[in-house]
Amino acid sequence: MKPIQVGLLGIGTVGSGTFTVLNRNQEEIRRRAGRGIEITMVADLDVERARAVVGERARVVADAREVIANPEIDIVVELIGGYGIAKTLVLEAIRQGKHVVTANKALLAVHGSEIFEAARERGVMVAFEAAVAGGIPIIKALREGLTANRIEWVAGIINGTTNFILSEMRSKGLDFAAVLKQAQALGYAEADPTFDIEGIDAAHKVTIMSAIAFGVPVQFDKAYVEGITTLQAADIRYAEQLGYRIKLLGITRRRENGIELRVHPTLIPSQRLIANVEGAMNAVVVQGDAVGSTLYYGKGAGAEPTASAVVADLVDITRLHTADPDHRVPHLAFQPGSLQDTPI
Ligand code: HSE
Repeated sequence: MKPIQVGLLGIGTVGSGTFTVLNRNQEEIRRRAGRGIEITMVADLDVERARAVVGERARVVADAREVIANPEIDIVVELIGGYGIAKTLVLEAIRQGKHVVTANKALLAVHGSEIFEAARERGVMVAFEAAVAGGIPIIKALREGLTANRIEWVAGIINGTTNFILSEMRSKGLDFAAVLKQAQALGYAEADPTFDIEGIDAAHKVTIMSAIAFGVPVQFDKAYVEGITTLQAADIRYAEQLGYRIKLLGITRRRENGIELRVHPTLIPSQRLIANVEGAMNAVVVQGDAVGSTLYYGKGAGAEPTASAVVADLVDITRLHTADPDHRVPHLAFQPGSLQDTPI
């Protein structure tokens, strides 16, 4: 069967990572998906930069609409970010009958209901594992692994930049401004760090988790959002003396009168696992009525961790749409042969 063809919109850090992962693991990915997956077209305003990344492997164009209009393209991956042009392009891709994979948490948190409805009407998939907690498969966990549960609450460290800042403030006794500069230099912070430090990025992500956990429309405008900009090294020190760590948590909880949705610095007893998540890492705790408490930990940003989630979505879509029923269920995608004669 001919490989499924993917068009990439925007080839920055995550786009390059997606190329790397698809290329390096192409055999395993083909086996698991039941069919090869190839990025054959890339759109980026910086055509030279894009060419430098993809070489001869894909056609590079400046206009994303060319990718969407190409009838050969089965899946469009949107890695542009933001609420503006990304929304127009995603809706256009859906209208053209393309499946969409996106890492765009801002777009989904604000316009998700409209986008999901458009996809439902057109009969295509919009997959977004990379939009929340980067490489941690939390969307899959909420939607599939925990599907038997009535979810009671979800709480997580879902912004690596602010967790890095809080960790450095605590361990080195540094002030907020000094550590922010460091976070920017290391490339953790968003282009505009306001979204990170004011809690907006975390609010986008918890809004998406809330919609999935509780089956409610995305409602970013209802979230209470407070960032970490007013925290001082002394606050963190006093918290520590009282046996607590301060973490920026995104929390969504089922209440009798509705769903709670909030982001704010939170005091967590220092013996809790989540209190000890340090640096630019993410962690999410989900409380379900059947399973109890489950914890997911890993890298929430970066080229390959985020690409890991993008490629997982590509495999899912390919698997579901392949003609071979053996590949519709992940665990049936075994290699033939016994353990001993199977190369690893
Ligand atoms: N700026 C985000 C973070 C990137 O620090 O977590 C990943 O969404």
